Amino acid sequence: MWSKNASLDGGTLSLAGIPAAQLAKEFGTPAFFLDEDAYRSRALAWQNGLQSEFGAHAGTIYYAAKSFICTAVAQWIAGIGIGIDVCTGGELAAALAGGIDPQKIEVHGNNKSVAEIDRAVSVGVKTIVMDSLFEIERVAAAAKKHGVRQAVMLRLTPGIEAHTHEKISTAHEDVKFGFSIASGAAWTAVEAVATHPELELRGVHCHIGSQIFGSEAHEIATDRLMGFMAKYRDAYGAELPELDLGGGFGISYVNGDVTVEPADVLPQIHAAVKKACATYNLAMPLVSLEPGRNIVGPTMFTLYEVGTVKDVVIEGGKVRKYVSVDGGMSDNARTALYDAEYTAVIAQRASTAPVALTRLVGKHCETGDIIINEIQLPSDIAPGDLVATPATGAYGRSMASNYNHVPRPPVVAVKDGKARVIVRRENEADLLSLDVKE
Ligand code: LLP
Repeated sequence: MWSKNASLDGGTLSLAGIPAAQLAKEFGTPAFFLDEDAYRSRALAWQNGLQSEFGAHAGTIYYAAKSFICTAVAQWIAGIGIGIDVCTGGELAAALAGGIDPQKIEVHGNNKSVAEIDRAVSVGVKTIVMDSLFEIERVAAAAKKHGVRQAVMLRLTPGIEAHTHEKISTAHEDVKFGFSIASGAAWTAVEAVATHPELELRGVHCHIGSQIFGSEAHEIATDRLMGFMAKYRDAYGAELPELDLGGGFGISYVNGDVTVEPADVLPQIHAAVKKACATYNLAMPLVSLEPGRNIVGPTMFTLYEVGTVKDVVIEGGKVRKYVSVDGGMSDNARTALYDAEYTAVIAQRASTAPVALTRLVGKHCETGDIIINEIQLPSDIAPGDLVATPATGAYGRSMASNYNHVPRPPVVAVKDGKARVIVRRENEADLLSLDVKE
């Protein structure tokens, strides 16, 4: 759960040599602390893993910006040389602000606005992934307007029930995303693209879901997508050169979970692609992936300060310790949304007190404002203690809100004993800056 430069020696947490107490003092709480070196090495591991596994057939690692993006991280990505998947104009703006080459940008989204499409085409993004027939017309119109031939992919739904939470499962039939292979919608989309000379169909894409373990779901998807690529070849006499299998690779949130490493899944995915090439008599395509959570998730922890502790008597006369921290569902919506599980430690001191049944909650006016539903924490936990929750890098800050007019926390990058803010803390002026006074 903890990133590679985090250590819990002697009961105190430190990151890249800086103790949590010092980080809290300098940057305040709540705050996200990002292990920069871990981020870079996870991104590189995917990049190098894809290269060494697929060689000349390695496509691109598109980091999924939705998991977490800011200008500095976009700059890191530009430097590392991987690609990025953006799904809104805002994410595209962050990618461009960080200096990412548009030829490394892939544009997603099931309802891209005409303005978003126009911007993407005009800056010259590498590919736009088509998600509806309307969009095919809109992208064709934008390409015509800008006098370019735009490379596109088709997002397909291969009809796979990924074993993950229903709300983050995306490739079964009854979803808003993509074109169904089974229903024939995907074929209609192929024909629609073919009517537009300003569109170049490069290949097919799918994203099965998120927080998936093992490679079985990606292997099944590979077979279904490549079966579809064979159908295309049979009808059009040419092969589609690219296959993008999306992201979804799981990470460890609590003891017992294992973070998927590139080497755990790339050989299996490669074998599945080779097998499908043989089955359908296709040449090896360029294979791309879009990991988000797996790169950034394990690289951040959130640091909170305990404000109050309350022993509440529950069923059977048991006591549940409610520990309230200075953040909550505004910086971690995942527990409320997906019953996500996290763990926590007291970050600035060791404790030998016996553990107690604890619920870690936030400061919002809502019963469901729970960060950790059930955890055993030392019973001497008290106001002023620092609590750290690991593995909050993905979909933590990126899904943060201002509920109850709570300012969103900063993101602090830490590397080699030095810490610096890469997203500053919001303040009251920020919160009020959009209001128009009567
Ligand atoms: N590619 C596409 C087209 C996607 O839709 C997604 C995630 C990804 C890549 C990256 O997936 P990852 O590798 O991060 O699992 N908010 C939810 C996750 C929603 C993911 C949506 N799409 C959560 O906090 O679990």
